[in-house]
Amino acid sequence: MPDPLAFTRLLRTPLILAPMAGGISTPELLRGASRGGALGFWPGGYQTPEQLADKLTALKRAGSSAFGVNLFVPADEFERRPEAIAAYARALEPEARRLGVELGSAVRVDDWFTGKVAVLTADPVAAVSFTFGLPPEAALAALRAVGSVLIATVTNPAEARAATQAGMDALCVQAAVAGGHRGTFGNYPGSTLPLAELLAAVREVSPLPMIAAGGISSAAELGAALRAGAVAGQVGTAFLASSESGASSAHRVALTAPGARTAVTRAFTGRPARALVNEFLLRYGAEAPAAYPDVHALTAPLRRAGAAAGDASVLAMWAGTGHARARNSSAEQIASDLLSRV
Ligand SMILES: Cc1cc2nc3c(=O)[nH]c(=O)nc-3n(C[C@H](O)[C@H](O)[C@H](O)COP(=O)(O)O)c2cc1C
Repeated sequence: MPDPLAFTRLLRTPLILAPMAGGISTPELLRGASRGGALGFWPGGYQTPEQLADKLTALKRAGSSAFGVNLFVPADEFERRPEAIAAYARALEPEARRLGVELGSAVRVDDWFTGKVAVLTADPVAAVSFTFGLPPEAALAALRAVGSVLIATVTNPAEARAATQAGMDALCVQAAVAGGHRGTFGNYPGSTLPLAELLAAVREVSPLPMIAAGGISSAAELGAALRAGAVAGQVGTAFLASSESGASSAHRVALTAPGARTAVTRAFTGRPARALVNEFLLRYGAEAPAAYPDVHALTAPLRRAGAAAGDASVLAMWAGTGHARARNSSAEQIASDLLSRV
């Protein structure tokens, strides 16, 4: 049974530093944001259980106070159609030749989910949040038994209802303007309601505490999300250009480049995600199949080669619509500015 007060005890601040997988979150970023008053989440997505275990040890050894971990839930309903994936691979071949690499094939469909739950039951953290769906009951029971607060990312009222029925302690309500992957339970783009309207729609179907995610990059926007019923804002994009972020210099520069804009695309991973518009997104966005994580695996060597060469045209530069306001300050400063009117 969920403990209705568990989440209230955990959350002593209305600001959560979003987990940002793919090398953006760093232990320094979590520490800096925590000094500024935010609760940090470590992104467990794409990591092996061993990598996650090492990171938890390092974060705890460095004296990080309470923090959470985010996991990607493997889903089984994706259309991972082999012929569509093969056709996309053929379309990408010229790009691979241009960059002098082979397309990737190492698909890890389950993202080591069970192994990572075992790590988190052996070495518990304050909270575990889930993205891309609801985990099996056994995983929830194991994590609850070690005292972790359980949070589901939802993008529409139907997902919120399902998460509530599954016994979650809180919901991270993600609007379409958010940077990175849409947290949808299936491989669909999700609701496009503005954040305040989405919060109101979710409140209609669930009594759980709501964390608001998407487009919060100022104290005023955090205040608006709290007034709209959220207990906290989960912020990613505003920290992308911070001194402690792991974002590449190409990514940082692109955030504030003249004319920069974002779009939701499946081009890089096969799941809808919001990124800065670049040549790769424009050229391949329309033909990319709904095939996650196969497309993620296919394009990984292209993105690695682009990063090594400083070639932003093929990078997956995740960012929300607030990208132009990402500042190169310390994470501590960004967090305390966000909290300045609370
Ligand atoms: C670079 C980047 C990586 C992200 N990675 C994750 C992730 O690993 N897990 C997750 O639940 N959300 C991830 N997100 C989404 C955030 O949790 C959050 O919903 C989003 O950043 C909020 O919107 P904002 O970017 O406008 O602040 C990521 C966002 C960004 C910008």
